[in-house]
Amino acid sequence: MSNWIEGKIVENKHWTDLLYSLRVKADIDPFVAGQYGRLGLQIDDQIVGRPYSFVNAPHEPLLEFYSIKVSEGPLSPKLAELNTGDSIYIDKRVNGFFTLNEVPEGRDMWMLATGTALGPFLSILNSQEVWERFENVVLVHAVRFKNELSYQDTSAELKDIYKDRFQMVPFVSREHTDFALTGRIPAAIANGKLEDKVNMQFTAKHSQVMMCGNPEMLIDTRNALKDKGLKKNLRRSPGQITTESYW
Ligand SMILES: Cc1cc2nc3c(=O)[nH]c(=O)nc-3n(C[C@H](O)[C@H](O)[C@H](O)COP(=O)(O)OP(=O)(O)OC[C@H]3O[C@@H](n4cnc5c(N)ncnc54)[C@H](O)[C@@H]3O)c2cc1C
Ligand SMILES: NC(=O)c1ccc[n+]([C@@H]2O[C@H](COP(=O)([O-])OP(=O)(O)OC[C@H]3O[C@@H](n4cnc5c(N)ncnc54)[C@H](OP(=O)(O)O)[C@@H]3O)[C@@H](O)[C@H]2O)c1
Repeated sequence: MSNWIEGKIVENKHWTDLLYSLRVKADIDPFVAGQYGRLGLQIDDQIVGRPYSFVNAPHEPLLEFYSIKVSEGPLSPKLAELNTGDSIYIDKRVNGFFTLNEVPEGRDMWMLATGTALGPFLSILNSQEVWERFENVVLVHAVRFKNELSYQDTSAELKDIYKDRFQMVPFVSREHTDFALTGRIPAAIANGKLEDKVNMQFTAKHSQVMMCGNPEMLIDTRNALKDKGLKKNLRRSPGQITTESYW
């Protein structure tokens, strides 16, 4: 059961025709970086709600959510139309286990995202814990087209602060660029191109991998990482691969 309260849209930033970020003012429960809230709108005679990861770090006052308009989707196209000052339903309670306290110790943190699943990683990266626990952090963002590489200013700010400890690797799958890796994450793990790009290796001893987004990417990537000796992280059997599926 959701516990809806009213929030106010402070900003709806449109990155492309499909991608947008909502900044929301609302008095919800505290959350941990990597968790998600629920946004809802009254559609016909009911509130339609969906989970959205927090993009902002927990200490930041405004809530931020990064979303794509799914053309046949009931909620995401309507959220895209919201304007400053509009009301939105938001669940007072927060949820989710895609958080660093579920991740075992390691030296290298690999964060793998498709599309809008970049969001929870930005929340984690703008919090302190990941920098206290890991020496190196690699953020991989895979999109279809280069104009979908949102939040590059945020990555640049992180690079300024953390320098060689932080590497950002874009993947663009459906057009050629002179800066991004082409194709998909699992293929670039299998053929070693991702490791070459950052000059680091996936190892069961040193790596922790968090990955989020497209469920098929999660499966294919897990299989590619298994071939390198990494395994799923479970509470009863700790491993190196921690995942969150968006659908
Ligand atoms: C734990 C969790 C956290 C989530 N966080 C986010 C988030 O931060 N940002 C976000 O955009 N979405 C997020 N989602 C997905 C989100 O809840 C909605 O499903 C999405 O916004 C589409 O809503 P809809 O009602 O329009 O269509 P739905 O009926 O919910 O989805 C229809 C179809 O759209 C596709 N789809 C859904 N979400 C995405 C997506 N993000 N990218 C590409 N294709 C998608 C899938 O094929 C899905 O079957 C999250 C989902 C989960 C389970
Ligand atoms: N992004 C757009 O231009 C566009 C346009 C129209 C509609 N939409 C709608 O938006 C949604 C898709 O959004 P999206 O583009 O953010 O998400 P997406 O389809 O998950 O694609 C994001 C990235 O994930 C990659 N990917 C997909 N399956 C993978 C797998 N099994 N293993 C590894 N990587 C994989 C994609 O590569 P590939 O390119 O190789 O698949 C792409 O680089 C759909 O609902 C679609 O209808 C998007």
